[in-house]
Amino acid sequence: MAYMTEEEADALDEELTHTTPKVDFSKPDIFIRQRELLNVLKPAAADYTMNEKPKKISLTGIQSTGDLHIGNYFGAIKPALELAKTYDARYFIADYHSLNTMRNSKELNFAIRGVAAGWLAAGLDPEQVIFYRQSSIPEVFELTTMLMAFTAKGLMNRAHAYKAAAQDNIERGNDPDAGINMGLFTYPVLMAADIIIFDSDVVPVGKDQMQHIEMAQDIAQAVNANYGQEVLKVPQAAIQENVAVVPGLDGRKMSKSYGNTIPLFVPEKTLNKTITRIITNSQKLEEPKDPDSSQIFQLYKLFATAEEQASLAARYRAGGMGWGDAKEELFRAANRELAPMRERYEAFMADIPALDKILEQGAAKARPIAAATVKRFRKAAGID
Ligand code: TRP
Repeated sequence: MAYMTEEEADALDEELTHTTPKVDFSKPDIFIRQRELLNVLKPAAADYTMNEKPKKISLTGIQSTGDLHIGNYFGAIKPALELAKTYDARYFIADYHSLNTMRNSKELNFAIRGVAAGWLAAGLDPEQVIFYRQSSIPEVFELTTMLMAFTAKGLMNRAHAYKAAAQDNIERGNDPDAGINMGLFTYPVLMAADIIIFDSDVVPVGKDQMQHIEMAQDIAQAVNANYGQEVLKVPQAAIQENVAVVPGLDGRKMSKSYGNTIPLFVPEKTLNKTITRIITNSQKLEEPKDPDSSQIFQLYKLFATAEEQASLAARYRAGGMGWGDAKEELFRAANRELAPMRERYEAFMADIPALDKILEQGAAKARPIAAATVKRFRKAAGID
């Protein structure tokens, strides 16, 4: 992909400064954090034969560390698929990132397919979205090596995940580095390479990933500043502001690490059983109940129409409805949405060679884009 000359870039900067708002309001539910407007790189118009504007690129990575749950679905999968309607989307399974923590080969192998099948079952269209495994794109690792040279060690020392692990060691009286591998320490560099290699404009992620995106920006800017040109596109985070925090069985945020999840693709009976395990207070059947403070109702809202929500909220408030009934209503609404997805998931998992073929086809589309970025960087660096 060719980029603009310096004069063209200056002219565009000038134009953007006067005409473009800093926040993309075209999708009101997405807050696009633009640290510096001038970071936005536009491919040269000559790359496009039609005068239609090229779509912006949205990219996100999904770790393959376990079964997908309802929190993943509403917090990450649905918003990313929504974004794919208006962006050129590139979504991938971050399987080498998962290797840092998953050392059981069978489990990792199964999780890679499970997560891929889950995204496809949830509606990802591999014709529309470039969908691939990180491990299928060797250029990502070449770029990682190059980015390492521009990444301050001190920047990595400040990464939340590494700091938390070191702090935990100190509190237990261990050596601060105990059990910490270089994959964990350099995690943000690999993630920066994932993002930068595909010229990503926006990265839809949860707030917990904000620091990683800022590090990717810092690293790309260090490269660009060194060579005095925009070698790499500086990405922006797309933080979905109005995504509800999905409560888990115990009322805390639904998370694998709390063991409080409702898995997405379990059989109907297991789904029902899991929902009956939601912790409730000891209010009696006849007592009026407050829907807003009930995690059963918060979960119900994710699956129900506005009318259904209003009518069930009225039943909560009227009294005479027990927690058992509330759970039954939740199960019915959840199963209505999840049953067809579960079927598709099972079909994908029943034919792994076909699933792998989809991922390989995605990788074949992704690799030339990745190779072009590496080539551009190597040329700028004098390694061409
Ligand atoms: N760190 C992300 C997470 O844990 C996963 C990830 C890896 C990612 N590479 C990425 C997300 C690139 C966005 C872009 O959720």
